[in-house]
Amino acid sequence: MRVLIFETSELAVDRVVRAVVEQIERKPASILGLATGGTMEPVYDGLSAAYRSGSVSLAGVTSFNLDEYVGLSPEHSCSFAAFMREKLFDRTDMRSNRANLPVGNAVDPDAEAARYDALISELGPIDLQLLGIGANGHIGFNEPTSSLRSRTRVKTLTRATLEANKRFFADGETPPKYAITVGIQNILEAKSILLLATGSAKAKAVATMIEGPLGSYCPATALQMHADTTIVLDREAAAELTLTDYYSQVHPDGQDAPYG
Ligand code: F6R
Repeated sequence: MRVLIFETSELAVDRVVRAVVEQIERKPASILGLATGGTMEPVYDGLSAAYRSGSVSLAGVTSFNLDEYVGLSPEHSCSFAAFMREKLFDRTDMRSNRANLPVGNAVDPDAEAARYDALISELGPIDLQLLGIGANGHIGFNEPTSSLRSRTRVKTLTRATLEANKRFFADGETPPKYAITVGIQNILEAKSILLLATGSAKAKAVATMIEGPLGSYCPATALQMHADTTIVLDREAAAELTLTDYYSQVHPDGQDAPYG
């Protein structure tokens, strides 16, 4: 794991945006794994700004989002499909027919999960997987005790996740209790992984992910088994790490230090 610690969330976000832009520069037909959630909003703002300034085009990109709420149609304003259109797809030249999400209101959610899994296997592997992390250590919606070899399936969301995400729903609207999420094995099959965590609410999960024992109680610990994972943190999200000095020695201010 490369652990990059930045003084501010803005600097951490800039680093993630730069990594995505560089990935697309290297390979315009990149396959990106995308996440939703509050952490990703400034990343998508940054990518949209990079598109507007002419620094990047998403026209050749194929994307696979991590998850979608069961029961919500792609048109529902609280669906992750709507989030992605609003925050990224409609603000760039991303081709809508190459932007993939599980269909939340599919008649048979289990069959939809299997279809989505097969599509990723057919078109993949994902070149760069973007991730956030839940305060309980989930990645995608792989909640604690998810199998570390899980594939795309329907998961029951924890009360803590429902609570954290109710801010995206209007007053009185009940957030769905289930989601279709890619599994941990799917995530580990990506060629490279870039996880962004900002803010003190993530500090405990971040410390366990990086320094804790591997185990399904904190699903993000599975990333310890991936050979090309970069964790981008702001100072607050890094606050509970033990080996901070070492990470800063290897990557001072989040930069790559030259040998010698
Ligand atoms: C969303 C997803 C989740 C979020 C996580 C953090 O597609 O996969 O794992 O990344 O819940 O969410 P925020 O950024 O809202 O704290």
